[in-house]
Amino acid sequence: MILRLITVAALALMPFMGNSQPSNPYELPDPLKMEDGTIVRTKRQWIKERRPEIMEMLRSQMFGREPGQAPDLHFKVLEESPDAFGGLATRKQVKISFDKDEKYYLVLLMYIPNDRKGPVPAFLGANFKGNHATTNDPYVLLPSPDKLATYAPNYKIEERNTNGHRWEYEYILKHGYAVATFCYNDVDPDFHDGFHNGVHQLMDGDKPRDGESWATISAWAWGLSRCLDFLETQKEINARKVAVLGHSRLGKTSLWAGATDQRFALVISNDSGCSGAAIARRKYGETVERICKSFPHWFCTNYSAYGGREEKMPWDQHELIAMIAPRPVYVASASEDDWADPVGEYFSLVGAASVYKLFGYDGITDRTVPEIEHPVVVGRMGHHIRRGEHNVRLYDWQQYISFADRFLK
Ligand code: GCU
Repeated sequence: MILRLITVAALALMPFMGNSQPSNPYELPDPLKMEDGTIVRTKRQWIKERRPEIMEMLRSQMFGREPGQAPDLHFKVLEESPDAFGGLATRKQVKISFDKDEKYYLVLLMYIPNDRKGPVPAFLGANFKGNHATTNDPYVLLPSPDKLATYAPNYKIEERNTNGHRWEYEYILKHGYAVATFCYNDVDPDFHDGFHNGVHQLMDGDKPRDGESWATISAWAWGLSRCLDFLETQKEINARKVAVLGHSRLGKTSLWAGATDQRFALVISNDSGCSGAAIARRKYGETVERICKSFPHWFCTNYSAYGGREEKMPWDQHELIAMIAPRPVYVASASEDDWADPVGEYFSLVGAASVYKLFGYDGITDRTVPEIEHPVVVGRMGHHIRRGEHNVRLYDWQQYISFADRFLK
């Protein structure tokens, strides 16, 4: 019999050190239980009834309702060269514009391995500090002055390569994947100005906002979808094999992008933490109350009502993971990243496994949190806890590539 409630007791005695502080006992909503109490037993019921029910909750209570397509989506290659990284890859820098006047756009940096037989799979993710900060490649364009003027008032242009360690381009390319990124500020600057800047202005104009209006994470996810629209036009890329990934707030974003856009073939959350992969009811590390106070622009305003009342949430974050089913999903944590609650991130996979099972795929069901740097892959779910701090490192990429190799090659 399918369990009505998945009960997770206080977490003592687990091998992972981050567990030393147990969270409160809590009960997770069963992703397979409809609001009217019916238990979902078929894929069809999930797809037609329960999944839309959860999406509606996530839209109206958490991320807001994203709009449809941009009014005038078009692409312009700004620069292209087959000589990136000593001839390893072709670099393309593309302006992805959302309106006719090209007032609203992002610049996508893309590398495609030159050693390829046909269209290649790709990784796509947003970055924090500008494309030029992801690499020492001197030909990567700096953010243009008109863009920079829209970024947060305290935004300082970064040195090249300051975040290069997060983007292991050569490693990715040598493993046969293309990789593409853009600066998240291009889509919606990461500060609260009442949604006057960024794509909200383009898509909503002066339309009054309400509790369900889309917010900034939703805008970044929307930007990822527009990049996928572009990748679909590229003959070198297999757009049916694009993995979306992101770190931290951008990991929350990659999960939401994977939920809202089922064209993404595989979804990776790197240290996404509170309001990403971490179970909210654990109230461990960052909480809903805290995140809504610190970053009110990330979520729709309805979300703040759950601050301190996580047990009243009609969903929890394992159901965000379940939105990705039956596509492969990978959740990664870091051992020192208590703020993001590595244990809670792991348990969202466990909580979503019943949905993968419905599709005939195994998932992670072991309630013992894996040891540090013991990656676990079961069916279409993957997980690891890297030793160290909140970050993206080569170790993380190594696991992502070997996970992706199972599904995208
Ligand atoms: C803060 C925030 C987190 C977020 C992180 C990041 O620490 O509290 O929720 O994930 O920033 O994006 O780096």
